[in-house]
Amino acid sequence: MDKFVIDGGIPLRGQVVISGSKNAALPILLAAILVDGEVRLSNVPHLRDIVTTLNLLALLGCRAEFHGDEVLLHSCDLKPEAPYDLVRTMRASVLCLGPLLARLGTARVSLPGGCAIGARPVDMHLRGLEQMGAVFELEDGDIVGNCDGLHGAHIHLDFPTVGGTEHLIMAATLAKGKTILENAAREPEIQDLAEFLNTCGAKISGHGTSVIQIEGVESLHGTSYKVMSDRIEAGTYLVAAGITKGDLELVDCPVDALEAVISKLRAMGMHIEGDGSNVRAYVDGPLHCVDLTTRPYPGFPTDMQAQIMALMSCSHGAGIITEGIFENRFMHVQELCRLGAHITLSGQSAMVRGVEGLKGATVMASDLRASACLVLAGLAASGRTEVRRIYHLDRGYEQMEVKLSQLGAKIYRERE
Ligand code: UD1
Repeated sequence: MDKFVIDGGIPLRGQVVISGSKNAALPILLAAILVDGEVRLSNVPHLRDIVTTLNLLALLGCRAEFHGDEVLLHSCDLKPEAPYDLVRTMRASVLCLGPLLARLGTARVSLPGGCAIGARPVDMHLRGLEQMGAVFELEDGDIVGNCDGLHGAHIHLDFPTVGGTEHLIMAATLAKGKTILENAAREPEIQDLAEFLNTCGAKISGHGTSVIQIEGVESLHGTSYKVMSDRIEAGTYLVAAGITKGDLELVDCPVDALEAVISKLRAMGMHIEGDGSNVRAYVDGPLHCVDLTTRPYPGFPTDMQAQIMALMSCSHGAGIITEGIFENRFMHVQELCRLGAHITLSGQSAMVRGVEGLKGATVMASDLRASACLVLAGLAASGRTEVRRIYHLDRGYEQMEVKLSQLGAKIYRERE
């Protein structure tokens, strides 16, 4: 297993190019199962979750090649079984279920695993697919689904689930008739998926709002598509500028998708300037803690909660961070406290009291965004920090230590 060794306390300066979005690329890759013909995707990040998805697609009979930032996909000889070994490592792989049902009328997919951040069931995915005509059974830990063709349905989601919304959009593109999704999630990655499917001939409208309409079509054709930039990676580098009191220019930064994050960072005292997709982020005075609650988009993203907590832990004053999406997403708190942070947990809220400065220590990464939070804290801390188990980071941040080194950080990957 690899670890990062960080000698902290250096203000980061320079330009960083934001990679393609992991959370947009994953559903788009799996949506290729729906397509008759060749799909050419660009701006695909080199990440472990992407490679896992390509391996899964290969097992499902979808030919996949990955060159540079381009993936070429062709579903030629589809098979309906997604094995446990691949699905257990990545929750998003359950999104192949609906597309396989739509194409083959049958599918067997292991119940998913993924990050250790709560129970994360898929009940809303399955209920929606049932309303479209699928029947499910659980056999040996696998979800076994069958249908005699999917049909359109009027589906109201109990909660705007991101994966559930993506899953039902995909299945509905090839269903007979019209599907209406109410209380749908509005995340930018869902908009990217819908745009991709529309370029393949799907008839989706309303994406980006909470009511999405999908008129089923007979088939989808091949296309070329550029995946959006990663708003969470970009948000993480904005925090890196703040926590190191640095000055960074983010290139290909999806500014519009980051409004909630940028407005909180500005409220803390950061300067974030720029239009289009180039953004400058810097600090020229003290930063102050704020209160925030994570919410579905356009609210503050849960995937940025850990990183902004690292920033608040060494800012002035105190603030309360409330986690409104996942029930168990504070595993980074204990580790931040090992670096000298003052954080008290009470249910779904964390009270952060800013300290003068963090001090280097050995810490353990527990999930993807918690790992990013610890790297950020290590960049700010005096002395040496070791972040262990960084395999989580390799799931979601492209070449993080390379990008940070180019900005002046002293960060090294070593074998544990
Ligand atoms: C996606 C993102 C993840 C992000 C999350 C919330 C990807 C690959 N992952 O995850 O990075 O943190 O959105 O923005 O895009 N739930 C149910 N039943 C369901 C589905 C969800 O109870 O059928 C619950 C989950 O347990 C969780 C909440 O709803 O508490 C949000 O989950 P969801 O929006 O589905 O997140 P993911 O799609 O898993």
